[in-house]
Amino acid sequence: MSKRRRIYEGKAKILYEGPEPGTLIQFFKDDATAFNKKKHEIVDGKGVLNNRISEHIFTHLNRIGIPTHFIRRLNMREQLIREVEIIPLEVVVRNVAAGSLAERLGIPEGEVLPRSIIEFYYKKDELNDPMVSEEHITAFGWASPPEIDDMMSLAVRINDFLCGLFLGVGIQLVDFKIELGRLFEGDMMRIILADEISPDSCRLWDIKTQEKMDKDRFRRNMGGMLEAYREVASRLGIMNENEPVRGKGPVLVSSNDD
Ligand code: TMP
Repeated sequence: MSKRRRIYEGKAKILYEGPEPGTLIQFFKDDATAFNKKKHEIVDGKGVLNNRISEHIFTHLNRIGIPTHFIRRLNMREQLIREVEIIPLEVVVRNVAAGSLAERLGIPEGEVLPRSIIEFYYKKDELNDPMVSEEHITAFGWASPPEIDDMMSLAVRINDFLCGLFLGVGIQLVDFKIELGRLFEGDMMRIILADEISPDSCRLWDIKTQEKMDKDRFRRNMGGMLEAYREVASRLGIMNENEPVRGKGPVLVSSNDD
């Protein structure tokens, strides 16, 4: 292993310095965590699946003009990304009541919402990522009003794209979380999608059976998490069913064709 510099380590990913200025390498770990790491397990092969699923989604988003940090996948666990200044907010988009919204407002899980709802959470592990309003965001300077507008319109476009993508393979997109960052190009700054989109950060239900195909399987001790992630990948047509996901060594791929 080369001695590249580690820039940041999160719960599910590590960022290393990239080969050129303005780039980073995003490494997907096998760690599954929930409830701010109170629950933690290693799920062998999860990182490989999330790397591939996120690559697939980000590649398509780039193609339809939604700017993302993704440049290309490097190997089974790593992708080359653009370095951005992460906005300290988690943006959640919900189409169907589930999770914390269902609990907080007493809405039965599975009820389709009157319209898609966008929520913001302040990224602060020590505080368990509290929900915040636009007032908090602007008052504390985490993002400006035009940046909030940009984040919301990106979130809506991403939601529309993802709903269609998953619907096409028999999956209902219940909700998801994204993170955005500021990309500086000369005097210009724009907000782009960062982090990942994978079954770790989405709620995905099988349309026919309503079976959960996402990290709720882990959060709720249901078992079958890896199998569910593999099923998502296979329905999206990005994983050969016999392809091993447990290999640890880096394998160079020549292109990111999907
Ligand atoms: P919630 O219902 O628990 O608030 O979660 C909403 C969505 O955000 C769901 O798709 C899971 C995702 N999520 C994350 O990706 N990271 C988190 O830390 C949390 C709490 C939720």
